[in-house]
Amino acid sequence: MNKKYRRVIIAGNWKENMLPSQVHDFCEALRKEMPESANGSSVVLCVPATHLAALAKEKSRRLAVGAQNISEFDKGAHTGEISADMIADLGAKYCIVGHSERRASNGDTDELVNAKIRALLERGINPILCVGESLDQRDRDLTMEFIAYQVKAALYGLTPEQVKKVVIAYEPIWAIGTGRTATNEQAQEVCFGIRELLRRQYGALISRKVCILYGGSMNAKNCAGLLAQPDIDGGLIGGASLKAADFGVIVREGSK
Ligand code: PGA
Repeated sequence: MNKKYRRVIIAGNWKENMLPSQVHDFCEALRKEMPESANGSSVVLCVPATHLAALAKEKSRRLAVGAQNISEFDKGAHTGEISADMIADLGAKYCIVGHSERRASNGDTDELVNAKIRALLERGINPILCVGESLDQRDRDLTMEFIAYQVKAALYGLTPEQVKKVVIAYEPIWAIGTGRTATNEQAQEVCFGIRELLRRQYGALISRKVCILYGGSMNAKNCAGLLAQPDIDGGLIGGASLKAADFGVIVREGSK
């Protein structure tokens, strides 16, 4: 999947699944699924914080360590929180921010998402910023307006150089975990819209460099069509990242 200006990223989002003791066997199985040449693509597993140490032992040029959330604070009296420094110390190169599940259930507001992105960038970790509309917003033709708002709020105050390091995942809420995927055209339309927005805000050079992923029921069957779209530079994959064989199909598609 040669995107010319961007590398393809295939990122798994394990959510609250699997155990630390299962990480090694999973990675062993995934290694067998990896294509001979990555062709410039990267594979990331975004695992619960408890699994990071186990995953760090498996990391390689082909497999990067990812987390799913951090605290916006550097350190201090924040019982139960985990900082960007802590996940960096365990080798994390990526971290999901603003997933719709956290926006809905864990109070991740746009301001908080912005603060977490800043904390990650300061530690040299690439944020994977999730944005996406609800079914109601899509039905009312508010998709692009809402996504533009989310993107602008999340990137507020960042320098163009920082924006280049942010990976944006377009994840329509109605497609997450539902088995209902956006069509190739729907997904491309929004990813193109995000790139246009970046071009207007930060210029063509930056917008060409930002990796934009699609997420929402991407699987072994539908990945080829989605990944072939010109503005889709990879996937953020939930359910299908829990089985090495299924994830492997997507990884291979991304390296074509
Ligand atoms: P899904 O999840 O692939 O299971 O729909 C994607 C995500 O929530 O990142």
